[in-house]
Amino acid sequence: MAKMQIAPSILSADFSIMGEEVKRIDKAGADLIHVDVMDGIFVPNLTFGAKMVKDIRHCTNKPLDVHLMIMNPRKYFADYAKAGADYITFHIEAEPNAVDALKDIKALGVKCGIAISPDTEIATIEEVIHLCDLVLVMSVYPGFGGQSFIGSVLPKVERLARLKKENNYKYIIEIDGGINSETVHKAKAAGVEVSVAGNAVFAPKDTAAAISDLQV
Ligand code: DX5
Ligand code: ZN
Repeated sequence: MAKMQIAPSILSADFSIMGEEVKRIDKAGADLIHVDVMDGIFVPNLTFGAKMVKDIRHCTNKPLDVHLMIMNPRKYFADYAKAGADYITFHIEAEPNAVDALKDIKALGVKCGIAISPDTEIATIEEVIHLCDLVLVMSVYPGFGGQSFIGSVLPKVERLARLKKENNYKYIIEIDGGINSETVHKAKAAGVEVSVAGNAVFAPKDTAAAISDLQV
């Protein structure tokens, strides 16, 4: 079985030296760079926009995994594509017309993903997952880093893994929120392929060791 890939979330980085932080996690072994975009409306917190993606694009060749926690995401896909995103993921709770949204992202030459919050069931996306390059299962309520892992979302991961296998779907299964050296094993056992990690990567002094601990 392939190793768990780790996508450090720059939400937990020092924003005053973001370029250096991105270079540092790249060197320390990050597989992707996770970019949490929040609008203060879909979620209570506010972070940054496409300009951040454009600027950090010069600091790494690793895939930029953009997680849009914003209302009306379709309005902004082109900005993130132009800025250099490799994956653009929107929330089904913010954009019910998933088919068109996924096609929009594809048409921009970017890989497309759908995210579901902890209370959202797989049934709401099951009809469209065959169009996805990535499906992101939130294991905390979106909005803030450093929250505790919600283990009750794992059956959704198991279902995605089963559907993927049965139908030969190509999407990557990603989990986001509360991942650390303990919870990552539960995620792995359920079928997660990419884990986002904020605190678990940025809090320890030795970033390379922290990332390699999670690459189980
Ligand atoms: C939450 C974000 C997550 C979060 C992960 O809204 O999407 O990416 O920052 O941070 P940790 O790993 O600290 O829970
Ligand atoms: Zn995220």
